[in-house]
Amino acid sequence: MTSELGRRIARRIAVTGPITVAEFMTEALGHPTLGYYRRAMPIGAAGDFTTAPEISQMFGELVGAWIAERWLAIGRPNPVRLVELGPGRGTLMADLLRATRGVPDFHAALDLHLVDINTPLRAAQEAGLGDYRPTWHESLDSVPSGPLLLIANEFFDALPVRQFERTPRGWSERMVGLGSDGKTLTFALAPGLSPFARLLPEALREGGPTPGTVAEVSVAAVELANRIATRLVQDGGWSLIVDYGRDASAAGATLQAVRGHRPVDPLDRPGESDLTAHVDFAVLAAAARTCGAHVFGPVGQGAFLRRLGIERRATALKSRATGEQQAAIDAALARLIAPGQMGTLFRVLAIGDGKSAAPAGFSDEA
Ligand SMILES: C[S@@+](CC[C@H](N)C(=O)[O-])C[C@H]1O[C@@H](n2cnc3c(N)ncnc32)[C@H](O)[C@@H]1O
Repeated sequence: MTSELGRRIARRIAVTGPITVAEFMTEALGHPTLGYYRRAMPIGAAGDFTTAPEISQMFGELVGAWIAERWLAIGRPNPVRLVELGPGRGTLMADLLRATRGVPDFHAALDLHLVDINTPLRAAQEAGLGDYRPTWHESLDSVPSGPLLLIANEFFDALPVRQFERTPRGWSERMVGLGSDGKTLTFALAPGLSPFARLLPEALREGGPTPGTVAEVSVAAVELANRIATRLVQDGGWSLIVDYGRDASAAGATLQAVRGHRPVDPLDRPGESDLTAHVDFAVLAAAARTCGAHVFGPVGQGAFLRRLGIERRATALKSRATGEQQAAIDAALARLIAPGQMGTLFRVLAIGDGKSAAPAGFSDEA
């Protein structure tokens, strides 16, 4: 039995034909009433997945230190737009703000903007961040211009991807269509070659990929990286993007679905599972550089947090903790920075205006 949204998508396909994987993701995550990210958000142990700021306060505190240092580096503008894309329960931002209270004049300069399509989550964000009088937006486009400090943790991986498969004659697009029962959603290759394969990064298109190779591109992610970089170059500022992904464009289908902390079929019960695809950081970096922005990274989340001093922070927290709490701090630290856990699987990219000094966290010297 599929979901109500699954039935609606099947009816649409029956009338207008197969849809792209990107169109499917857009519906499954963003449908105005039934999309996964429109409903009460299942982050955390009782939900579908957990995220770095939910694992430990140390994550938001160190991102806060990075952001405050960047504010100083760009000349302490007042006001400065502090923007979070996809703030979830607001935990990262709350930790960031608490950790930066002591930075002289920083909070007085902050103009807080939260970009999220999840209306039910706003209540949680309001509870934690209401004192800072945030403004909510459905997209970055309505955030007013001006110097910008932007963070996005596990946001880009929710943006829709198109998938293409190499055939002996060229690239065809992978679509979502209907099975022989006329109801079940299924992947199928579009007949003929796709002119949209030119959207794929050159590294994937060229070099004689073997038939059967699948390649992905997120046009939405490229457009967003462009918009962020353009604003940073025009108005000054920095952004920090943290996500699951790869440093160099690589072939492979990475679309995946998670429900209740378990992998499930992405086409099963759309609207009831989280859909993600690996972020192609090479493509984001190239898009930002094309706009004239400076790019640092990607580096592993573990290396980034270690350079910012997460181990010292853990030691400080443990010095005032019970034995049980100390064990929990150690476990959270390992999850955030250990190789094979989030330490290497998650990558960190900074995009900046190019006028200020290099940011901390991206090399041992900085
Ligand atoms: C995986 S959660 C990450 C939450 C938070 N950053 C964290 O680390 O806990 C993704 C967040 O992005 C929001 N989101 C997903 N797609 C979006 C879109 N297209 N536009 C705006 N917000 C979106 C979701 O509602 C959610 O708050």
